[in-house]
Amino acid sequence: MLIDTIIHGDCIEKLKTIPDSSVDLIFADPPYNMQLKSVLYRPNNTKVDGVDDQWDKFASFKEYDDFCIAWLTECQRVLKDTGSIWVIGSYHNIFRVGTIMLNLGFWILNDVTWYKTNPMPNFLGTRFTNATETLIWCSKNANTKKYTFNHKMMKKYNGDKQMTSVWQIGLCIGEERIKGDNGKKAHSTQKPEELLKRVILSSTNRDDIVLDPFFGTGTTGAVAKKLGRKFIGIEREQEYIDIARKRINSITKSWAEADWVEEEKEKQIKVPFENLVKENIIKAGDVLYTRKSYNTQAFVLENGALQYKNTIGSIHKIGAIIQQTSSCNGWKFWYILKNSKSLLIDDLRSEYIRKHNRV
Ligand SMILES: C[S@@+](CC[C@H](N)C(=O)[O-])C[C@H]1O[C@@H](n2cnc3c(N)ncnc32)[C@H](O)[C@@H]1O
Repeated sequence: MLIDTIIHGDCIEKLKTIPDSSVDLIFADPPYNMQLKSVLYRPNNTKVDGVDDQWDKFASFKEYDDFCIAWLTECQRVLKDTGSIWVIGSYHNIFRVGTIMLNLGFWILNDVTWYKTNPMPNFLGTRFTNATETLIWCSKNANTKKYTFNHKMMKKYNGDKQMTSVWQIGLCIGEERIKGDNGKKAHSTQKPEELLKRVILSSTNRDDIVLDPFFGTGTTGAVAKKLGRKFIGIEREQEYIDIARKRINSITKSWAEADWVEEEKEKQIKVPFENLVKENIIKAGDVLYTRKSYNTQAFVLENGALQYKNTIGSIHKIGAIIQQTSSCNGWKFWYILKNSKSLLIDDLRSEYIRKHNRV
């Protein structure tokens, strides 16, 4: 299977070429079937730049539903049991799409509301300004409980507060909005990278494969690349493929958050101190000391225990005794000299984890 690639063609047909249970995440931003019947004008008579593209038009609700059943069926087939799918839509289509997903057996995890901070006004004043879109997030079926959700990392991303299912993000404008040679939007529905950042960060790990069957300008591919994930895009219009390719090829820097999931996981892996001694990363007889005083020294024993004066115990126990506290995280307490450099033993633990469990 080709990865980091854009496939040209109809997604229903091209999805059939992707093996069963082979992708980790699907993000789908399908046609919304907006059914725009007439051109809309602002009060000053300028034309509203709405979504009137051919690719958004369907002859009937039945035709739209059949189309969604077909691509969603393929998406479910190619999704790994540990994977999940996000589908975005507006009030025009999301209820139909949601019903179809439930009928196909997808298991809804969240309906996330994208609250647009800069929505297009309702120029005619006939109803409320529509300021939201909905993202339905599902696992493959009711039995697939081991989907990826990086809860801690999203909390960290959200300033140490649990992230809710309402996301306040502006429409894609300014520098980020891709324009054609005529200065007009290159695509009518380019999504903001911030939206995809939350989707991909929350539900994938590094090197996971993210599939987008309606690739457009390649927002999913661009964000996947910046976050160290792989992508597969499918798009019918060559014009958009060219834009997406140029966009993705020009990315040279990754985002800092790309490493967050791995760092979090590393923290959760338990490593006995004696494993580092067994592998000679720290040797029996080495001296450990504390940040406060080089003179507070303990000696590493062959079995991974520490000897401090006449007391023998774990790195944690001896640390607690020295600080006169009930507990101590020894990994963050003890230092060692390596090649004339003072290192926290936790750094050696990270090195050990990277060597043994590629996180
Ligand atoms: C809503 S837009 C996606 C925009 C994209 N998320 C972005 O940020 O640029 C839907 C895209 O799907 C493409 N498309 C529509 N029907 C398709 C089909 N049957 N197979 C593949 N692509 C299709 C359209 O050409 C359009 O670019």
